[in-house]
Amino acid sequence: MLSPISSRSAIPRRGRGRWAAFALGTLVALGTSAASQAAEPVRPELTPKLQGLLQKEMIQIEQAMQEIYSAMLQGRHAVVAEKGQSIHDSFILEQSLTDEDRQDLKAAVPQELLQMDAYLHELSASLAEAGQAQDTARQVEVYGRMTETCVACHSAYVTDRFEGLQDADIPTGWGMAPSTQDNDSEG
Ligand code: HEC
Repeated sequence: MLSPISSRSAIPRRGRGRWAAFALGTLVALGTSAASQAAEPVRPELTPKLQGLLQKEMIQIEQAMQEIYSAMLQGRHAVVAEKGQSIHDSFILEQSLTDEDRQDLKAAVPQELLQMDAYLHELSASLAEAGQAQDTARQVEVYGRMTETCVACHSAYVTDRFEGLQDADIPTGWGMAPSTQDNDSEG
């Protein structure tokens, strides 16, 4: 059940993900060693507080995604823009963390997870823009990329909870920004 994600070794993206925001320094320090870490469940590595915050954030993101889906199908562009933005602005983790929590988090999560989080963060901004631009085709495309990112992260790091994703055959590019894939030179 080795996930394709474990073999990705990419340069950290510039995007500010909820986790990436305070972990980027560490990524630079860790270099490629973090990139070659095998994908395994992260939840056991998190403190109860971090886990609670993360769960809360995930539930909010899922709700927003559902509302976006419905709005997108019906051409309610303003809702797409607003909810896309709300995903982008959801910095629950960042807002509620003490310095110590931050250290805990940095120690716990691998680089690929942070990259996926950063990519989701970027995509949510693109979705908000597509909403503002009333560009339905683009909304549908970005929404698909976001869904891939949810599944990619869950199937790599949350299989202890989402067992049905354990053996999911996830295409290599899912959850990764196109530019990071281009940089992927190590098998
Ligand atoms: C970078 C990794 C990552 C990405 C990307 C990600 N998730 Fe999650 N998600 C997690 C982790 C880790 C958990 C497990 C949290 C826990 O149980 O402690 C989780 C749990 C969840 C849960 C269960 C929450 C609960 O406790 O009831 C939902 C729902 C969810 N994610 C939705 C989403 C959606 C929707 C997306 C995409 C828009 C997404 N996630 C993207 C890492 C991610």
